[in-house]
Amino acid sequence: MGNAPRIGIIGVGVISGVYLETLTARSDARVTAIADLDTARAASAASGIPGARALDVPGLLADPHVDVVLNLTIPAAHADIALAAIANGKHVYGEKPLAVDLASGRRVMDAATVAGVRVGSAPDTVLGTGTQTARAVIDEGRIGRPIAATAVMSSPGPESWHPNPDFYFLPGGGPLMDMGPYYISALVHLLGPVTAVVGSASRLRGERVIGSGPRAGERIPVDVDTHVSGILEHAGGALSTLTTSFDSVRSGAAPIEIHGETGSLSVPDPNTFSGNVLFCPLGSRDWELVGDRAGYVDAARGIGLLDMLAAPSEGEVRASGRLALHTLEVMTAVLESARTGARVTLDTTVERPPLVPLGSSFELTEL
Ligand SMILES: NC(=O)c1ccc[n+]([C@@H]2O[C@H](COP(=O)([O-])OP(=O)(O)OC[C@H]3O[C@@H](n4cnc5c(N)ncnc54)[C@H](O)[C@@H]3O)[C@@H](O)[C@H]2O)c1
Repeated sequence: MGNAPRIGIIGVGVISGVYLETLTARSDARVTAIADLDTARAASAASGIPGARALDVPGLLADPHVDVVLNLTIPAAHADIALAAIANGKHVYGEKPLAVDLASGRRVMDAATVAGVRVGSAPDTVLGTGTQTARAVIDEGRIGRPIAATAVMSSPGPESWHPNPDFYFLPGGGPLMDMGPYYISALVHLLGPVTAVVGSASRLRGERVIGSGPRAGERIPVDVDTHVSGILEHAGGALSTLTTSFDSVRSGAAPIEIHGETGSLSVPDPNTFSGNVLFCPLGSRDWELVGDRAGYVDAARGIGLLDMLAAPSEGEVRASGRLALHTLEVMTAVLESARTGARVTLDTTVERPPLVPLGSSFELTEL
């Protein structure tokens, strides 16, 4: 416990509960401080965690008892909080997206390089057995040369269940910026980095109605496209067709399918850690269930932060800021292409993160 990384959490809204469950279950990491613009919310969260104090945001950022900042604020605040954490010499792991625009994402990564601190970013769901098992099957050569992928996230939108869904419909939100990180991260794990994209986008309505919580019935503006499609050209030659939508009532589409010369793979929802991976070899018409071959078993949100803290070197961080920056560029490039009608080539690239060996245990090292 003496050298256990000390974690300070900024932003304790809807998603923070599951992170707290993951982190407080570990004996080799400690949550020492919590901050939120809503000070009562921070106090309430801290009161449930032995050894954690509620601080204001500047106080947490400067606190000598915090080694790494876990940034669970809304997307518009991600870059500023990350930059402030880095300026205070802290490692930072944040919810997705890394930032709401590419320039801010680059600033975060550049500042971290200068400061010599690590940056990690959600999603970490793709480190679970679902995406990782599919990755192992591809690496084993069972589908041969990958040719194409389809990735579909199709939903009516989050306003029916999220009590404060405004951020989903403001710049930095929308189905691509919100859900794209899961699908694009998975596609990079599976097929490698993207070199160019084309995109197209539309929107169904100019406003949405909140469906739950104290603001139920309130109308909120929609300032982003809510149906976005893109074609992603991977460096290895495969083409991924990605659709993200808050404009569909229901879908039966597989979340991700990968097609290769000698087989096809059905990959589970990259917004979940586990699920069935199905394989169909050339010549067969039936899917075969693939047993778990790789990935963190029984994992939950927070595993990406633990993986970052356990990585022997910055280059081995799996849910890395470098991957998040590349993902952000893919998304902003698809939206730019949708706006301009032009194909966009990318500046950033990233190597496929190391495969996660099948298992659940690892030790945190002192950074
Ligand atoms: N809700 C989900 O199911 C879900 C799932 C996966 C990822 N995420 C991601 O997690 C992040 C947070 O989502 P959420 O649903 O928990 O949002 P939320 O609105 O419920 O909570 C965000 C919290 O951050 C606080 N906050 C906002 N700006 C801040 C700032 N500048 N300084 C300090 N505190 C600040 C708010 O007061 C609030 O308590 C988003 O990036 C979202 O994309 C959410």
